[in-house]
Amino acid sequence: MNLVVVSNRVARGKANEPMTGGLAAALLPVVENSGAVWVGSSGRVRDGAQMEPIAQVEQLGQGALALLDLPAAHYAGYYEGFANSALWPALHSRSDLIRVSQEDYHSYREVNSFVARALLRFQKPDTLFWIQDYHFLSLGAELRALGVKSRIGFFLHTPWPARSVIDSVPNHRELVTAMLAYDLIGFQTEDDRDNFTACIRADLGVLVRDGVVRSRHGHTRLAVFPIGIDADKFAASAAKAASHPDVSRLRRSLHGEKLAIGVDRLDYSKGLVNRINAFDRMWTMHPALLRAVSLLQIATPSRESIEAYGNLQSEVARLVSEVNGRHGEVDWTPIRYLNKGYGQGVLAGLYRSAQVGVVTPLHDGMNLVAKEYVAAQSPVDPGVLVLSKFAGAANELDAALLVNPHDIDGMARTIAMALAMPLNERRMRYEILMTKLRRHSIQQWFADFIESLQDSEAAESVEIGP
Ligand code: G6P
Repeated sequence: MNLVVVSNRVARGKANEPMTGGLAAALLPVVENSGAVWVGSSGRVRDGAQMEPIAQVEQLGQGALALLDLPAAHYAGYYEGFANSALWPALHSRSDLIRVSQEDYHSYREVNSFVARALLRFQKPDTLFWIQDYHFLSLGAELRALGVKSRIGFFLHTPWPARSVIDSVPNHRELVTAMLAYDLIGFQTEDDRDNFTACIRADLGVLVRDGVVRSRHGHTRLAVFPIGIDADKFAASAAKAASHPDVSRLRRSLHGEKLAIGVDRLDYSKGLVNRINAFDRMWTMHPALLRAVSLLQIATPSRESIEAYGNLQSEVARLVSEVNGRHGEVDWTPIRYLNKGYGQGVLAGLYRSAQVGVVTPLHDGMNLVAKEYVAAQSPVDPGVLVLSKFAGAANELDAALLVNPHDIDGMARTIAMALAMPLNERRMRYEILMTKLRRHSIQQWFADFIESLQDSEAAESVEIGP
């Protein structure tokens, strides 16, 4: 089998390099071992809109990494514009944050078409293409337009929202039509697949029976593949990380105090403001917890050139300083706020040092931090995961303490409850969660998707609009 995996962001695989997103970090170990060619953006742009795509290819595990310089004229409209200022907010049910122009949409389509041309170089008769995430909704249709007949699969790492929200994205009908060029579309949860089904039924009037869309564009299977992690490998790296200087310095600095940890990209979908408000409320409601527990919040800067992200950065920084001003003392800082990224190896050790992991997004496709926090715990004295019921991970990790991130009082109570949870209950919850993590590993996710793509009906020769 020849496999070509495509994602906007790729990873190169140094355990201690900061990783800004779940997707690239999650894919790295499985892509490395699969012998696939992984194609993505080099992070550089080049002039000349009509330029021929040139990939810089290097070895990655048993396969290769192919990095593309994207066209300078379209990069901002594609990445900052349509992908991250129209699709991302809509997919996370934040239509109020949509800022987009027709030029951005045009650039998005141009970049999809450019990447499709670049992929031809890697095509062999039995190649499977597996396209990742919302940056490339129309890439399959572009490949078909170039005559590609191989199987093409797509996996959406984010949620797919209610129909009314998708309706607020300009050109959404063209995009979902283009998505029907895929033979298989994978979602994180059943809700996402059902929302997508409702959207295409209403928008395109197509038939969906037994999870297969039948339209004049051919057949597309819609299925659910919740992404996982290699829990045992993560557990081993957490145990090993105890000797990492950052981890031992953190532990020494605690003087018996308990620690809660949050690790997120600085993104409005992650619910950081609500989380900090919940800690503020908790210290006010339970003064005994002052000096007894602090929050380590790592917020990795992300998409900084986009206004909504800049605004959030200022808002979170202001809020942290208010809360620290209100509850802090000369020798105690309630919230240790780090506006930077850490490598996975160190993070594993930091998770293991915290008695509570707080993962409270307003909406999230899966959220692998939740899974990593659990896997990093010591089986003899595990910490407690407080998890938003709006993260895809909540479907599997229902033995965590589930919270509504809009209910600040409720979150404050639940965090306090997590801190006081007796050892036998912590162990029982940990065992249940670990069993689930082992059952849905990243290797299984990868294998299930590929198997399902291979089994999908042969691509038909179809014309996809617009
Ligand atoms: C999310 C998206 C990924 C993206 C990551 C980091 O996890 O689903 O596609 O790569 O965020 O975002 P960035 O814009 O830095 O690639």
